[in-house]
Amino acid sequence: MCEGPAVPSSPWPVRSGDLLLRDPVEADVEALLSFRNDPLVNHFMVRAHVDPDDLRRELVAVADSPTAFSCVVERDGAVVAIGFLDVVDGPGQPGVPDGTDGLIGYVVDPRYAGRGIATATARALLGAAFEGLGLRRVTAAANADNHASVAVLEKAGMRRERLSRQSLWHHELGWLDEVGYALLAEEWAARGR
Ligand SMILES: CC(C)(COP(=O)(O)OP(=O)(O)OC[C@H]1O[C@@H](n2cnc3c(N)ncnc32)[C@H](O)[C@@H]1OP(=O)(O)O)[C@@H](O)C(=O)NCCC(=O)NCCS
Repeated sequence: MCEGPAVPSSPWPVRSGDLLLRDPVEADVEALLSFRNDPLVNHFMVRAHVDPDDLRRELVAVADSPTAFSCVVERDGAVVAIGFLDVVDGPGQPGVPDGTDGLIGYVVDPRYAGRGIATATARALLGAAFEGLGLRRVTAAANADNHASVAVLEKAGMRRERLSRQSLWHHELGWLDEVGYALLAEEWAARGR
């Protein structure tokens, strides 16, 4: 029998303070749609509108995906955020190992903004990436004008690596700058030492 590479098991569920980060299920679609297409949420999102059927398909697909480890964030039983964690290949020459790197992101329901939920989610995503999935390097990117998201990445302990000038198209504002953040597994392990 021919066996493919082992699919890593989900790094969820994880508890962080009063938050529960868990695998998404189809029943989460309605709760996520209650804020995912809110104009406040979409102002800086590259995907400025999410089709409900696409979101449903994406949530269901996470369970069997070897590379998608997004999570739903609950507080007191309510869905308050979604965290994105995708395993990607690092760039480089032929022979580069597969699936060593991670890409994270987050969206918080605006009704729960300003309570540290994104910061806790970003930290949990980093923990899941490094400790749960054994990844080598994790990156995140934000519109440079998305000050709240930049604050989240800084507070989560990620290291700013780049400013890409006028690299992201915004349908109202034109070409905007993007900042890139990263963290290595050894930096994660050394935190707080
Ligand atoms: C950006 C977002 C994730 C922040 O979520 P949140 O749960 O409110 O974030 P937190 O409460 O953990 O932290 C936000 C930090 O940003 C700061 N902040 C908020 N607005 C700010 C602004 N306009 N300028 C500077 N800092 C700001 C807050 O003060 C807080 O820092 P502090 O705790 O040191 O005071 C949320 O607003 C969101 O989902 N936005 C839409 C989607 C999005 O942009 N996702 C990120 C894509 S890269």
